[in-house]
Amino acid sequence: MPSIVAILLLVSLISCHVSGPRTQGPLRKAAVADHITLGTAASAQHLGDQNYTRILGSEFAELEPENEMKFGRVHPQRDRYDFRGADALVSFAAAHGMAVRGHTLVWHQQVPQWVSAGNFSPAELSASLEDHITTVIEHFAGRVYAWDVVNEAFNDDGTMRSTLWYDQPGIGYAGMGTRYIEQALVWAHAADPNAKLFYNDYGGEGMNRKSDAIYAMARDFRQRGVPLDGIGFQAHVDLAYHTPEAMSSFAENLQRFASLGLELHITELDIRLRDGSPDSLAAQAKFYADIAKTCVQQPACKVLQTWGFTDKYSWIPRYYPGMDWALLWDAEYRKKPAYFGLLRALRAHGKHF
Ligand code: XIL
Repeated sequence: MPSIVAILLLVSLISCHVSGPRTQGPLRKAAVADHITLGTAASAQHLGDQNYTRILGSEFAELEPENEMKFGRVHPQRDRYDFRGADALVSFAAAHGMAVRGHTLVWHQQVPQWVSAGNFSPAELSASLEDHITTVIEHFAGRVYAWDVVNEAFNDDGTMRSTLWYDQPGIGYAGMGTRYIEQALVWAHAADPNAKLFYNDYGGEGMNRKSDAIYAMARDFRQRGVPLDGIGFQAHVDLAYHTPEAMSSFAENLQRFASLGLELHITELDIRLRDGSPDSLAAQAKFYADIAKTCVQQPACKVLQTWGFTDKYSWIPRYYPGMDWALLWDAEYRKKPAYFGLLRALRAHGKHF
């Protein structure tokens, strides 16, 4: 005979699945109290790892597919889209009451062969990109609330990056500066007028030539009514270069973008280290806290996302040989000093709002 306890357990499991988790983790709760959405990059291939899903679904209020929405994954052949990985993540998010940020539609990396080796004319490439942007955004309309429409279009000196979208062969606006970015935003807006559209880049966190160029573009777009809603600041930090002093102009930079009426998201925060010593982990924890404080104290900073959350699956060792330890949980899912530093910062600074 099924006991009443078993029935109650079943009912609670079903309602948990429908309404999202009952228990929100401390980080997620602290961020909510600050009116900040705490997010992370996530990968569909790890959804079978229960430690991974337990943390993802409880400690974060938003996820962004780490690779699954990139051109090469979602549109591997000219006439074939593959939404399986992205759909799995979007479903996971819905089941856990999480928002989804889309990443990314126009980027020079992770582009499929059929595009990069296609020998297209600008007119053909333009038609393909319009189809891509329209199809992907329409597929996720109502489920993805914000998109990194264009990613990493500037060089560090503020000039335009030479890419297959801009000038090799480009979509028809080579030599016309940010005009191709504007075109991509217009297509994206037509596909889902409710989606918030972002320009996303790295290295533009502080006041520098790159952020000056992004700012000039953003001001121009806002003045002319081009549909740009916000800026994503990736924030991939290396403590050897991004000293607290070097980052001290982050708040000033955020403020100038906020004055344009833009929403600001920290999109890919991670802090890579050369070793996992207590000193390094402590410096990292302080830096996580400083970034969180900067976001909390800027009303236009609405989202704080880390680029993954466990060192078990971080992209860092593959891309920066010799470096690692960049995230909030270690490779065995133990909370690191960075976790507690971030949590304390979110709790301490929230009261100012
Ligand atoms: C990285 C992913 O983390 C890796 O798994 C992938 O192999 C390469 O791309 N800036 C971005 C992200 O906008 O899309 C990148 O993600 C990291 C740098």
